[in-house]
Amino acid sequence: MTRLHVNVDHVATLRQARGINYPDPVPAASICEMAGAQGITIHLREDRRHIIDRDLEIMRKVVTTVLNLEMAATDEMIGIARAVHPDICTLVPEKREERTTEGGLSVAGDLDTVTAAVRSLKEADISVSLFIDPSRKEIEASREAGADIVELHTGDYCEAPAAERARQMDRLIEAATIATDLGLRVAAGHGLHYHNVAPVARIPEIEELNIGHSIIARAVFTGLENAVRQMLEAMGEL
Ligand code: PXP
Repeated sequence: MTRLHVNVDHVATLRQARGINYPDPVPAASICEMAGAQGITIHLREDRRHIIDRDLEIMRKVVTTVLNLEMAATDEMIGIARAVHPDICTLVPEKREERTTEGGLSVAGDLDTVTAAVRSLKEADISVSLFIDPSRKEIEASREAGADIVELHTGDYCEAPAAERARQMDRLIEAATIATDLGLRVAAGHGLHYHNVAPVARIPEIEELNIGHSIIARAVFTGLENAVRQMLEAMGEL
């Protein structure tokens, strides 16, 4: 079984585009849960371009499944996470000018900072996931840093031309196996949509998928509840 965590950031993107108070990502999270999502993911960015602090605080109170906070490993974000206490913190790289998270975290290249962040979050009883490229080096460094979970970046697989896709799938399969063998739990995400999700959902070691943009985009046409259910169907879970 693969769990679906819906990332509702882009409901907030629509709100922030006008600087008003709708659409609200909080009821969106509840609708996703009612439609069968097993978790809700949000990314509180340094520039607050979509999710804002108030969303995190209210979601901590209303989300009844699992709340996964994506964030950079900065002192500000670690302080917020320790105060609000999401179930999972996923550490991601963050560049102000990027359109979305572009690559995985460089755990091997920044082991001391990541290890300190992991320790500080785990002291507050928060499970820690590291968003990394599917490489042995980053998986081994994640283990060394003390992470509970690695989220494998599926962007290369999603963007690969048809001839290259099988190779990218093999990288994900191999990475998922290495991580499990090291005792890490495995998640995956980024760029997944209704037509590329099935092979990833079939990798037995991958326990959960974080999917945002494609679900919120489809919701514009079908409504959010249908969009979530259709993703669960595409994952082979309904
Ligand atoms: N996982 C992580 C760590 C992310 O940063 C994002 C994007 O915020 C996602 C998953 C979801 O990606 P997408 O919106 O492309 O489904």
